[in-house]
Amino acid sequence: MSGPLLEAEAVSKRFSGIVALSDVSLHVADGEFVAVIGPNGAGKSTLFNCLSGVLRPDRGTVTFRGRSLERLRPSARARLGIARTFQRIELFGGMTVLDHLLVADRARTRRGGLWSDLFRGSRPTSEELERCGIVLELVGLTEWADRPAESLSLGKGRLVELARALMCDPALLFLDEPSSGLDRHETAEMSATLETVSRQHGTAIVLIEHDVPMVRRLAERTYVLDYGQLIADGPTEDVLGDERVRVAYLGDNS
Ligand SMILES: Nc1ncnc2c1ncn2[C@@H]1O[C@H](COP(=O)(O)OP(=O)(O)OP(=O)(O)O)[C@@H](O)[C@H]1O
Ligand SMILES: [Mg+2]
Repeated sequence: MSGPLLEAEAVSKRFSGIVALSDVSLHVADGEFVAVIGPNGAGKSTLFNCLSGVLRPDRGTVTFRGRSLERLRPSARARLGIARTFQRIELFGGMTVLDHLLVADRARTRRGGLWSDLFRGSRPTSEELERCGIVLELVGLTEWADRPAESLSLGKGRLVELARALMCDPALLFLDEPSSGLDRHETAEMSATLETVSRQHGTAIVLIEHDVPMVRRLAERTYVLDYGQLIADGPTEDVLGDERVRVAYLGDNS
């Protein structure tokens, strides 16, 4: 297939007085792993919100496989193969890990009334269990399937979020700070899982991350946002070595 998987051109977004994004352009090829970095408040999550349909950009265009996404809601984007996780983890008390994946699967296949059929105890089909089992295995949560979400560590919770996003078998996955709040061991586990998703499934991944070693390990290319503007992009090593990027973001301790 020719052309990028995702192409955003000159995307801008304001919140009353604040320019959160100004003319930001980004492209992602099929199967590519790119990172978006930048200081707090640089506009990274706003960019994801614009790309995933949570927010409408004020200006600019976003296309996926050459098709405009302008009027598509997050659910319609998910059906095209675009998934995301959120910066703030949101799991549901009283539901197991497996329940979270079943809800995601049923949202995708639109089987039954989602929440209501889960709570009425509608039993999962063998196909549903098989699809969930594949994703649980992929993220290393097989043994945790029947644990209630509230009993999980933050690290495992983030893996559930990832698993939930993977249930729609995405071609493109946006991850907003998946290592946030994780310890070193959990961060390494997350990195390894993302590497597997990328390599084995050919999923294109766009990663927002403050953890520079993780970005260095995983991302082929990196974009840097500062005050809503793209100040650098290119191969990750070049970008991380760029003087402007070091001053704006990395300080002297990189
Ligand atoms: N819904 C909103 N209403 C008003 N201002 C917002 C809203 N969302 C974001 N902003 C502002 O837009 C700017 C960019 O915020 P954004 O959350 O995109 O930054 P970020 O790069 O994700 O930061 P962080 O690293 O802290 O997550 C900030 O100044 C923020 O306060
Ligand atoms: Mg953010």
